[in-house]
Amino acid sequence: SAVGLQNPPGALQQTEATQATKELTILFGSQTGNSQGLAEEISEKLKSMEYKITLESMNDFKVKDLKKLTYLLIIVSTHGEGDPPDTALPLYEFLYSRRAPKLNDLHFSVLALGDSSYEFFCQTGKQFDARLEELGAKRLSPRVDCDLDYDEPATKWFEDVAKSLKKMDGDISSGPAGEGAFVSAVSSPIPDQPKYSRTNPFRAEILENINLNGRGSNKETRHLELSLEGSNFKFEPGDSIGIYPENDEELVNSIIEELQLDPSESVPINNQGEVRSLVEALKNHYEITVLSKQLLEKASEANEKLKEFIESGDHHKDYVKGRDLLDLVRDFSPWNISAGELVGKLRKLPARLYSIASSYQANPDEVHLTIGAVRYESHGRKRNGVCSVHCAERAEPGDALSVYVQSNANFKLPSDPDIPVIMIGPGTGVAPFRSFLEEKEEIEAKGKTWLFFGDQHFVTDFLYQVEWQRWLKNGVLTKMDVAFSRDTKEKVYVQHRMLDHSRELYDWLLEGAHVYICGDEKNMAKDVHATLLEILEKEGGMTSEEAVAYLAEMQQEKRYQRDVY
Ligand code: 2AM
Repeated sequence: SAVGLQNPPGALQQTEATQATKELTILFGSQTGNSQGLAEEISEKLKSMEYKITLESMNDFKVKDLKKLTYLLIIVSTHGEGDPPDTALPLYEFLYSRRAPKLNDLHFSVLALGDSSYEFFCQTGKQFDARLEELGAKRLSPRVDCDLDYDEPATKWFEDVAKSLKKMDGDISSGPAGEGAFVSAVSSPIPDQPKYSRTNPFRAEILENINLNGRGSNKETRHLELSLEGSNFKFEPGDSIGIYPENDEELVNSIIEELQLDPSESVPINNQGEVRSLVEALKNHYEITVLSKQLLEKASEANEKLKEFIESGDHHKDYVKGRDLLDLVRDFSPWNISAGELVGKLRKLPARLYSIASSYQANPDEVHLTIGAVRYESHGRKRNGVCSVHCAERAEPGDALSVYVQSNANFKLPSDPDIPVIMIGPGTGVAPFRSFLEEKEEIEAKGKTWLFFGDQHFVTDFLYQVEWQRWLKNGVLTKMDVAFSRDTKEKVYVQHRMLDHSRELYDWLLEGAHVYICGDEKNMAKDVHATLLEILEKEGGMTSEEAVAYLAEMQQEKRYQRDVY
């Protein structure tokens, strides 16, 4: 508004200093840190609108306080097959328990994060939203479900929330700026925002890029070292790096050819009116390797055959699995679609998150990553993971990658460096533990450390072998147990090694050890979790219910943390 534009630059700080009147709680349930990041951004914006903000991870929130709240904003992601993030579980379970209170005085809104290529899209957000309503709470504004490219819908959600708050509270800012301050607060950049961020990534030069696996391995795991000099990025062990990948140019060209479009035609890359050539847009800005129900529905507006296919039953569920845009374009040709219409149907290319494998304390100008190249075949064509294969095949030392730091409060070393830590990280899951140990060495932490590592073959797949050995020798690493699954007739996995040492592992738990799991979620993390329960029963004489309660309490106390994918 005109009034807003007339405000001097200092207006926001002035209003911020006046006394905040209304209390508002923002709770986030984050697995990888996206919800947390958004919650922090929104908190800053609301503070400048005079609200007294409580910003908390769901697992830090005292559920008993729920009935005291007036305003509650929930930002929560869904992962796996519609599951809540670990940190959302205590609140989730409380809300669905008999203890859940009536919440007639509560006003709330939910921002749900998810991935529309999964069947249970935004499930956890939908459940929080529905349950709060059942308990009598009123919506400030409707829930918004965000796909991987969540920036625009999240902004829209926040604007609606802000409008609704404004309606309820009137103009609570006491300063002379009035409406203007409100409007500028909604759209203003966050004060003191670092120069580089998720929305303004840093171009990090690649210093080193090597294959950690030996010749003959089934795997290719890249060790990347990136320069962060000039970025001002800071990070802690457990944080991640987001990388904006590039699509394979060959795949891009095939799609353009198949649709008989002009690669140089200008198309929009966002709602702010920026444009790029079609070839560049498909390479750097839009997702072309994943199909979803939503995409099929949008695409069917331009294709009768596809429309019939979708309407003739539930076929799309099977069809989207393992296929990409090129399959869709080929299977349903001919198309009558313009370049602009095409990109209008696609999702933005999301950044990929990788756990950081180095310590800022030890190496402030660099960040190291451990990236497994994803390659597989489906429906008769070879397929590549967009980012991992870009890093494996095309990212040379001297090139740059667009990156940002994503902090992850849910995977942190104990604040007391004397507390023992148990780290379970087969495959690329070992990455954050290299960061843990590098940090512990740098700060001369005293606490004991125990690493469980596993991979297929000792000879070719023992990632960072020399480094673990050095840390074992100098005492930074107290114990290490390895499981190479394909060197013996019977498979051995990390959890078998844990069971071999169940007594000692239980003793470490009694000493207050923190337990960390990183890596594959579907199989490994589930099995390791079950093994922890088994160890508690066997060595602690617990019933299965007691073991479950014990692990839940460890999770609540942040002594049991997972970074799984
Ligand atoms: P596999 O490939 O022989 O099945 C890192 O990928 C290591 O994790 C590999 O040795 C892999 O074994 C192993 N792995 C596979 N499934 C697992 C599970 N359910 N629990 C623990 N480790 C597993």
